[in-house]
Amino acid sequence: MDSLEQLIDSARQDFQAAPDAVSLENAKAKYLGKTGLVTAQMKQLGKMPPEERRARGAVINAAKGQIESALNARRQEIANAKLQERLSAEAIDVTLPGRGRGKGGIHPVMRTWERIERIFGSIGFDVADGPEIENDWTNFTALNSPENHPARSMQDTFYIDGKDTQGKPLLLRTHTSPMQVRYARSHELPVKVIAPGRTYRVDSDATHSPMFHQVEGLWIDTDISFADLKGVYLNFIQAFFETDNVQIRFRPSYFPFTEPSAEIDIAFGSGPLKGRWLEVSGCGQVHPNVLRNMGIDSEKYTGFAFGSGLERLTMLRYGINDLRLFYEGDLRFLRQFN
Ligand code: DAH
Repeated sequence: MDSLEQLIDSARQDFQAAPDAVSLENAKAKYLGKTGLVTAQMKQLGKMPPEERRARGAVINAAKGQIESALNARRQEIANAKLQERLSAEAIDVTLPGRGRGKGGIHPVMRTWERIERIFGSIGFDVADGPEIENDWTNFTALNSPENHPARSMQDTFYIDGKDTQGKPLLLRTHTSPMQVRYARSHELPVKVIAPGRTYRVDSDATHSPMFHQVEGLWIDTDISFADLKGVYLNFIQAFFETDNVQIRFRPSYFPFTEPSAEIDIAFGSGPLKGRWLEVSGCGQVHPNVLRNMGIDSEKYTGFAFGSGLERLTMLRYGINDLRLFYEGDLRFLRQFN
């Protein structure tokens, strides 16, 4: 390569011709590398007489500077092109329709839960929530269940490893009734509350699930009777099923925590279930022993309690015949309620 001018031109062409960073770095080596053409020119300097050497050196350095700036310019170009390429490859086409996202829905049992809170809320009932892991005393003893009651057996109740602070067994509450005790012990009289929630029993078939839902009701005051229970529960059933064409009856029964105790049956005046008596709830006058365990004077105060199954009410409302449908998570079933 004779003149430095030519050298610069040729370097510019080579750089321009390099399509990518790797070939550009190779082209750089050809001029600026250890054995490159510019480096060779530098080496020549040693053979020159000293008076020429300085001027020639300056000229070579200037040429080197130009080659370097041509190199940097091309580096920049290649980097820009690469960025541009990436930007267009990753560009989002905002005109494409979205992928969509499934809308969640409320589970039918939760719908029942919410309706019950609204209905009882509208006639002045407080709504309470409590622990699903209960102690033996609150779930059984305080509710007047004797130590040898079959409900306490391992066959019916899920016990938890570990004990409470008194060394008593812990369990998954078998009903919402312990909330009667918890609420009454921590609130001023009169007590007027519902407590909906999850409950657990060792049981599983078309009409029983190991986890299910109940709502507990409790009203205690100086003169609360079965008549109040009937009025309140009838109002609830009419509001819940959205019909006045429904009858209610009390059938004598037994629960340890109420005396007297009854089952509540309802019968619709029309529709597919017309005329059939359907059991929907247990209920009764709160037993004096339970009132005492709540710290309430059982001579002065009386009250009623009831406990109804949310799954049962939901099945009757929508005409569902298998409880397991609630827990299989089949969207074909669940979508019908949303
Ligand atoms: N706890 C009962 C059960 O799980 C239901 C029940 C019956 C609740 C009578 C009550 C009641 O409050 O008074 O079967």
